[in-house]
Amino acid sequence: MREPRYKALLAEDLAELDRVIRARLHSEVVLVRQVAEYIIGSGGKRLRPVVVMLAAKALGYAGRHHHELAAVVEFIHTATLLHDDVVDDSRLRRGQDTANARFGNAASVLVGDFLYSRAFQMMVSVDDMRVMQVLADATNVIAEGEVLQLMNCHDPDVTLEAYMRVIRYKTARLFDAAGRLGAIVAGQGRAVEDALGIYGMHLGTAFQLIDDVLDYSGDTAATGKNVGDDLAEGKPTLPLLYVMQHGSPAQSALVRQAIAAGGSDDFPAILEAIHATGALEHTRAQARTEAERAVAALQGLPSSAYLDALLELPFFAVERDR
Ligand code: IPE
Ligand code: IPE
Ligand code: MG
Ligand code: MG
Repeated sequence: MREPRYKALLAEDLAELDRVIRARLHSEVVLVRQVAEYIIGSGGKRLRPVVVMLAAKALGYAGRHHHELAAVVEFIHTATLLHDDVVDDSRLRRGQDTANARFGNAASVLVGDFLYSRAFQMMVSVDDMRVMQVLADATNVIAEGEVLQLMNCHDPDVTLEAYMRVIRYKTARLFDAAGRLGAIVAGQGRAVEDALGIYGMHLGTAFQLIDDVLDYSGDTAATGKNVGDDLAEGKPTLPLLYVMQHGSPAQSALVRQAIAAGGSDDFPAILEAIHATGALEHTRAQARTEAERAVAALQGLPSSAYLDALLELPFFAVERDR
């Protein structure tokens, strides 16, 4: 796959983002520093900050405040990952042991709280009421999404609507906020802010749909995560919902039972049913539809290299292998 445009366009911004992230990670408490540096230092694609910075620049912003907001969004994202890996009992992230595998669940949860609250300190320092509203609401909805997902685990009767709600809440909402922050920092009014929010919402939905595909088909060397985590937790994601709807009675029964039981014993048989029914192609097609909706939301923005990068990002999210 070709390098996405944003890498060259935002090279300086990404370097500055890194400096801001490192400076804001500071704590006098050794274990906070250790765990926070462990997860942040392991990289990550930094996609949400990229949305903040591209949006701001596509709207003509020439100041320096977007780095701080981009870092806030990455801190919130990282806090959710620390918590999510505890909840999902995941062992591998960004190609290394998860923080919970390395430091234990308690340290992961508590340092996740540190990152959340540090993000809020940074956000307050920006001193813009609309910024605070957007981030406070997004963070609250993300938490609801994770709780909704918890309620859906091991339930084979979860509907497509319930699944879509979970991914909109837990993942798309932060992309939505990222787009909005770019518009707000660029001094735009509500109409443009909403357009960037809708863009982010569809981009984030596409992104999570593909994450759910990669949980069945990904290569650990690329994703840095283990395959099969979702099935082990009994998560009814779209690939499984599709098999239950469109598979044979036997395939459907197999998936129902595996969602209810969790664990990884059924993984090979489930994978076979997923491939036989075309469940991953269907999920990818849904992601592509979301990507097109994201692009459509930006109609009417002034043309620029930054806009072009925003327009191609949803398709990278769909085609990605990591
Ligand atoms: C992982 O997000 C969590 C999801 C919402 C799927 P990313 O895939 O953006 O994780 P990093 O930051 O690049 O590691
Ligand atoms: C995304 O869901 C979690 C959050 C947005 C917090 P997943 O549980 O699928 O993410 P990964 O696969 O662990 O990265
Ligand atoms: Mg997870
Ligand atoms: Mg996942």
